[in-house]
Amino acid sequence: MGVNILGMGAYVPEQKLTNDDFTRFVETNDEWIRTRTGIVERRMAGWEPTWYMGVKASMKAIERSGIDPAEIGLVISCSATADFHTPSMASIIQDAVGAVNAGAFDLNAACTGFVYALDTARRFVDSDGGMKYVLIVANEALSKFLDFEDRGSCILFGDGAAAAVVERSSKLFASALRSDGSGAGLLCARALNTASEIKTEAPEGFSDSFPELKPHKLFQNGKEVYKFATQALPKSFELAAANTGITKDDIDWFIPHQANIRIIETAAKKLGVSMDKFIVTLDHFGNTSSASIPLALNEAIEKGIIKRGQKLALIGFGAGLTYGGIILEY
Ligand code: UT7
Repeated sequence: MGVNILGMGAYVPEQKLTNDDFTRFVETNDEWIRTRTGIVERRMAGWEPTWYMGVKASMKAIERSGIDPAEIGLVISCSATADFHTPSMASIIQDAVGAVNAGAFDLNAACTGFVYALDTARRFVDSDGGMKYVLIVANEALSKFLDFEDRGSCILFGDGAAAAVVERSSKLFASALRSDGSGAGLLCARALNTASEIKTEAPEGFSDSFPELKPHKLFQNGKEVYKFATQALPKSFELAAANTGITKDDIDWFIPHQANIRIIETAAKKLGVSMDKFIVTLDHFGNTSSASIPLALNEAIEKGIIKRGQKLALIGFGAGLTYGGIILEY
């Protein structure tokens, strides 16, 4: 059994940051950012809490699905940039959208979050007495964790949210989720805000690959993550497609994690698929972590590019290091 994506919605902050705006914080320029990443501008949350962006995207998704929010059985928020350690973002969103009969929890698989959440949702709607609808929310405010002194990372990310209401369906669905935690120190941010409370060395018998980290700031080893990403994207498709009889030629649209155009181009080449089949929105949204795949999906649906009945491949990678793919019929 699979899922049917009933309706989607998105919310991005009004505030735009162009590449030129970054010259105020770091030594960079528009040309470098465009040619090395493909990013032209991104949105940055100002007054908006992360949960608020999730609520706005969810309301749109619910409205477009034409359902009564009281029939939602579960809310999953897959944010890597939650406003609170507790409560979950999902509980805040559940209340705000009137999902009065729903359970709620957060799931953090970083930029692969939407892929993980969609696969998780499928298992909830598919079980005995399964839920009628699950609301998945990918809401991210990377800007709150960015190190605006690090030109190698701060120029990459943006803020935004996208949500989807899904229901049980017999349509095509195949998935693969993976993690390689040996790369945990390559892309990370500590949870606590005060350095003094954090033990920096792993206890005896455990290895710790984390570098010296600034409190609460995102660290990235760009080169290593790049290498991982160019392997992980094609592998995510191949793992999801394994034993299904589906090949790359059956896929109408690939919706990859939107991190860097060069990563997507390399993945397309490795898969032997034309870039014309890849949905790309990173030029105007940057990398919005877990929101990047659903933001791209939502935009392509809104523009009429993705149509009902088409086969989609959602392929992601991110901190963890996580990766994973889903093949489904829209
Ligand atoms: O969802 C999270 C996933 N994250 C990613 O997917 C990130 C993966 N990594 C990347 O996309 C790329 O590695 C970056 C875009 C982060 C960096 O691109 P690169 O082509 O690997 O550049 P580099 O790190 O090799 O740096 C080349 C040069 C360096 O200068 P020198 O040492 O050659 O003088 C950097 O200091 O570019 C410099 N540089 C910059 N210059 C202008 C790094 N960042 C910038 C910048 N503006 N923003």
